[in-house]
Amino acid sequence: MIVLGIETSCDETGIAIYDTGRGLLSHTLYSQIALHAEYGGVVPELASRDHVRRIIPLLEQTLEESGVARSDIDAIAYTKGPGLAGALLVGASVACSLGMALDIPVMGIHHLEGHLLSPLLSSDPPEFPFIALLVSGGHTQLMRIDGVGRYTLLGETLDDAAGEAFDKSAKLLGLSYPGGPEVSRLAETGDADKYRLPRPMLHSKDLNFSFSGLKTAVLTAVRNCGEQLEMQEKHDIARGLVDAIVDVLVAKCLSALKETGFNRLVIAGGVGANRQLRAALDAMAEKRRFRVYYPEMEFCTDNGAMIAFAGAMRLLDNPASAEKDYAFTVRPRWPLQELTNRA
Ligand code: KG4
Ligand code: ZN
Repeated sequence: MIVLGIETSCDETGIAIYDTGRGLLSHTLYSQIALHAEYGGVVPELASRDHVRRIIPLLEQTLEESGVARSDIDAIAYTKGPGLAGALLVGASVACSLGMALDIPVMGIHHLEGHLLSPLLSSDPPEFPFIALLVSGGHTQLMRIDGVGRYTLLGETLDDAAGEAFDKSAKLLGLSYPGGPEVSRLAETGDADKYRLPRPMLHSKDLNFSFSGLKTAVLTAVRNCGEQLEMQEKHDIARGLVDAIVDVLVAKCLSALKETGFNRLVIAGGVGANRQLRAALDAMAEKRRFRVYYPEMEFCTDNGAMIAFAGAMRLLDNPASAEKDYAFTVRPRWPLQELTNRA
């Protein structure tokens, strides 16, 4: 079965062709980062317009690279939400029009389900059940994953997501958008003892997070440096921030593994690309004898492959989930818990 995946929830246009027999055949990505960089964040209207410009040429390119003819596609999976309404509508309208033209089923996929299942695209995928830490730009959640569509929320952030803490702090440090990769790079040569930032909710007895206080701590540190924020200070503050975020994320993952008795941990979402987080988790995994699974680097951040894959998994799990219903709606806000109907 061949599934076309379309991702347009935010600032990346991603297209992929996944074959349930042969695996991922091709995928392409166009990132709008440069377009939004000068505004310090994603401008929704610009994002939608750029998706409109890119989506068809990318679709043609992906099909050509896969060697699959349009008529060979069995189903189309597109990101239905959560995300920016206008951006989502571009992917949804292309998916539904093409589905109608080809007379094949179309599936609206939850973006976070795509992230959650993305480690299964790797050559050494985890078996169910596992714990998943979902750390994207807007979400920080710990989930228990028992199978496709069987997700239980164990804990989540009460305010900012870890990605937001990275991005907002980066802005305060005068770094470009998106801040995560840049903060991570600066932190590598920062002094760990110079700024010890708070570890919010580290000792709370639950699996929830809170990261909004960190940007305030970064703001205070920046202000204390006075008018001229030296480069080395930026490195040191970045190091303090990364250490605080990583400590909390690792501790909560450990608690989730302990609580459930599971020994497999999956990391999904953009912050999962963070080098320091990976190093800390790997060290902890060796010490506490659990295994960590990461998506391939290119599938950590938004991409079409994870959407094609999630669609294919849904089709295999429940063929009735794909309908020839081309009247689409998008869900800019869509709690993942709504998918957990068959736990
Ligand atoms: O999953 P994603 O690509 O998009 C959303 O669905 O939100 O995640 C984007 C987030 C941004 O906050 C970005 O700063 C962060 O992931 N990120 C990183 C790194 N790469 C991306 N954060 C820390 N270190 C990184 N290397
Ligand atoms: Zn994402």
